[in-house]
Amino acid sequence: MSKYIGIDLGTANTLLYMKGRGIVLREPSVVAVERQTERVRAVGRDAKLMLGKTPGSITAHRPIKDGVIADFEITAAMLRDFFKRVSAGNIFSRPYVAVCVPYGVTEVERRAFKDATLEAGARSVAMVTEPIAAAIGAGLRVTSPRGSMVVDIGGGTTEVAVLSLGGIVRSTSLRIGGDELDDSIMQYVKTKYGISIGETAAEMLRRASARCTTRPMTAGWTSRA
Ligand SMILES: Nc1ncnc2c1ncn2[C@@H]1O[C@H](COP(=O)(O)OP(=O)(O)OP(=O)(O)O)[C@@H](O)[C@H]1O
Ligand SMILES: [Mg+2]
Repeated sequence: MSKYIGIDLGTANTLLYMKGRGIVLREPSVVAVERQTERVRAVGRDAKLMLGKTPGSITAHRPIKDGVIADFEITAAMLRDFFKRVSAGNIFSRPYVAVCVPYGVTEVERRAFKDATLEAGARSVAMVTEPIAAAIGAGLRVTSPRGSMVVDIGGGTTEVAVLSLGGIVRSTSLRIGGDELDDSIMQYVKTKYGISIGETAAEMLRRASARCTTRPMTAGWTSRA
């Protein structure tokens, strides 16, 4: 495993970037756990397929909520699984990790990102503020003395930041993203048609309607998704 890994630990998706190899993993942030034994049954894509459809014996968890870690143990288990997948058998070399943290989180929430990554097997963890990472990733010249604006709409958060000279000049982080829209769709379908749909179906409806009505917007979404 490369010694250096960058992680975007998101409410909806987790991405791992390896120095020299680029993005090596992009999976939904979902973990399916056996209720009785607490054994992890599936992580990522396979676990997402189970959301809302699990039998009583299995629970599908989304351990990141509104941009921050809601379940520490399950987040660490998910990261451990992701590290194993990208390690190509060499699980003994513990990586140096940089992990993105939303702007405006509390010290306790920040600490949880670090501790969960260490618990998953990292040798050391550096924290990068999300809007700065997003701007660098989008190719903006963040260190130049001119303002650039980043708007990052994710599953659980929306971050808007103006950057200049490598730092954040102004930023707002709202704990609202795609999940909130999906909840509204689920409630609407229930009230209007008396049908209960799950979050996966609500997300599919939202994405399908975005494709029908707002082509320029979806082009932007697709490049970040
Ligand atoms: N083509 C698309 N059209 C509409 N919505 C999309 C599209 N692609 C992704 N999304 C939505 O974007 C959200 C996921 O974005 P992203 O992976 O950036 O979130 P995240 O980084 O995991 O979350 P956060 O940053 O809030 O913790 C989901 O709500 C998903 O439905
Ligand atoms: Mg994100």
